[in-house]
This record gives sequence, structure tokens and C-alpha cells, in this order.
Amino acid sequence: MTENILEIKHLAVSVNKKNKDAIRIIKGIDLTIPKGEIVGIVGESGSGKSMTMKSLMKILPENGHTTYDSFYFDGVNQEGKKERIPAAMIFQDPMTSLNPLRTIGYHLIEVVQRKQKVNKKEAEKLALKELEKVGINLPEKRMNQYPHELSGGMRQRVMIAMALLAKPKLLIADEPTTALDVTIQAQILELIRNLQKEEDLSVILVTHDFGIVAGMCQSIRVMYDGKIVEEGQIDEVFYEPAHPYTKELLKAIPTGDKGQTLYSLSSYKETTEEREQAEMYVLSNTHRVLGNGGESHE
Ligand SMILES: Nc1ncnc2c1ncn2[C@@H]1O[C@H](COP(=O)(O)OP(=O)(O)O)[C@@H](O)[C@H]1O
Ligand SMILES: [Mg+2]
Repeated sequence: MTENILEIKHLAVSVNKKNKDAIRIIKGIDLTIPKGEIVGIVGESGSGKSMTMKSLMKILPENGHTTYDSFYFDGVNQEGKKERIPAAMIFQDPMTSLNPLRTIGYHLIEVVQRKQKVNKKEAEKLALKELEKVGINLPEKRMNQYPHELSGGMRQRVMIAMALLAKPKLLIADEPTTALDVTIQAQILELIRNLQKEEDLSVILVTHDFGIVAGMCQSIRVMYDGKIVEEGQIDEVFYEPAHPYTKELLKAIPTGDKGQTLYSLSSYKETTEEREQAEMYVLSNTHRVLGNGGESHE
């Protein structure tokens, strides 16, 4: 039995810009996601969270290029494979993944029929059931509505229904609640938490909000500038943060007031030289930090 749904070593992503050298965006990260857990990935905007996820999903923009030393998904070596891993991803803005000219029902039925050999009637039944499961009221009515007719929270529920209909082994939620009001945010997070338990899903929850991770996740990876700078169980990282960047993030936990600036990281700077030399140090079985003393793993 495999204990990890995902194991990737030294993932690197670069993008090519016309007539320029490739820019390194993700700088060699090791990512292990245990089965049946919700793992939080935090880091400020631009730290490379979405690029990492898109790289895993093979949905990078055309000028993006991925390399890795090894990549296993559910125990299966992904090297040289063209197919995508059986994972589903939801995004901050559901409108980017919904066709404004198609009904909610069209979207859902399309996913069902892509995955299963069923006729339209049966697909519709499955779609309705899924809408109920994600807490959408009047599901029959919603099937005939267009994306713009639903609220932001409801659209995100539809996205989650679509994701689940694809029968994923891993759900990647990339800032799924960032665009929503605080109360709706809490409802969507609760939905993800409940679905994770009911379906025994593995989940990666990407957020820039440390507070969300504390309430949702078993463990956490902290990203900064295309690297994982610290990882560990929630308690380890919260009560004994080892990397200066993590400490800054913790100081800046938002209070929930909308519109406030989340981070002021001016006090944290690291030189290029420091960064290139850094390697992961082991603090416990589960707690690791980038280049900050302690006991090296090699
Ligand atoms: N299509 C792209 N081409 C070039 N650079 C990009 C592209 N998309 C994102 N980037 C850069 O990659 C870095 C990481 O971005 P991203 O993964 O979106 O960060 P996050 O999700 O953590 O906010 C940023 O510096 C961003 O400017
Ligand atoms: Mg992002």
C-alpha cells in the first residue's frame, strides 16, 4: 500500500520569455502529500504556489517548462507519461473555468460523460446528486441556470461538484475562498473538510492565509520565492516556526478584516547567495526547514 498520494523530488519550473533567458519560477522543491490528508501550502502572492500546482496538473502556460528528478502519483511513476494525474483543481475565480454561454447542467453533464459511459438522462441524475451533495439548494433549477445567475459561493460549490464528478484521487484547491465574503468562505471550507472525510480524498489547500490552514490542515508547506522554506505538522510550524519567513507570516495572520494588507514582509530579505546554498534541515520526523541550522538530512 502506498501511503503518499503524491511524491515529487526536485520539481523545477521555468518560463521562457521571447528573446530572453528562461526565468526560474520553481526552484527545485520536494513535495510529498500523504493520502487522506488536507495539506496546506502557504506563501505570499507570487511565491509560486499556483505554478507548482499547474505544473503537477500539466496545465502550465505554453512557455512553461517542468523538470523533476522523480514523480510518483499513487505509487505510479509519472516519468514520461503524457496523461494528466487523476487529480482535479479548483481555482480562486470559478468564472475562469465556466463557460458563460453554457448552463450549469451542461458543464456537469459534460464532466460525467467524459468519465463514464452513461446516457444523458443518467448523467443528469448523477449531476443533480452531486449538486445536492455540495449543498446547492433547488438543484433542478440550477441545472438550467447560467454561471452569472449564481452567487460567487454557489459558483464555487458548482466547481467543487464538477471536480468531484471527475472522480479525482487528489483535490487541489487553489485559493478557493479568496474571492468570497468571510461567512461564505467558512461555508466553502467546511464543505471541503466534510467532503474530504466522506470521500476519503487527499486535498492540497493552497492559500495565503495561515489562519485557514490552522483550521483545516494536518500539515503545512511554506513557500517563498519558488522554494519550500519550511514544512511540518501544524503544531510544529505554528508553535516552533524555524524559518524567518514563516515567523514573519505568523506575525501577519490576518484578523479577518476585509481589505487589509495581509503581509508586510519588508523585514524579511535573504541574499541570493544564502538562498542557493540553503538545504533542508531535519528538526523532527515531520518538521524540516531550509538552511537554518539543525541537523542535516544527509
Ligand atoms: N505565465 C507566466 N509567465 C511568466 N511568469 C509567470 C507566469 N505566471 C506566473 N508567473 C510568475 O511566477 C511566479 C509565481 O507565480 P504564482 O505561482 O502564480 O504565485 P502564487 O500562486 O504563489 O501567487 C510569479 O513571480 C509570477 O510573476
Ligand atoms: Mg496563486
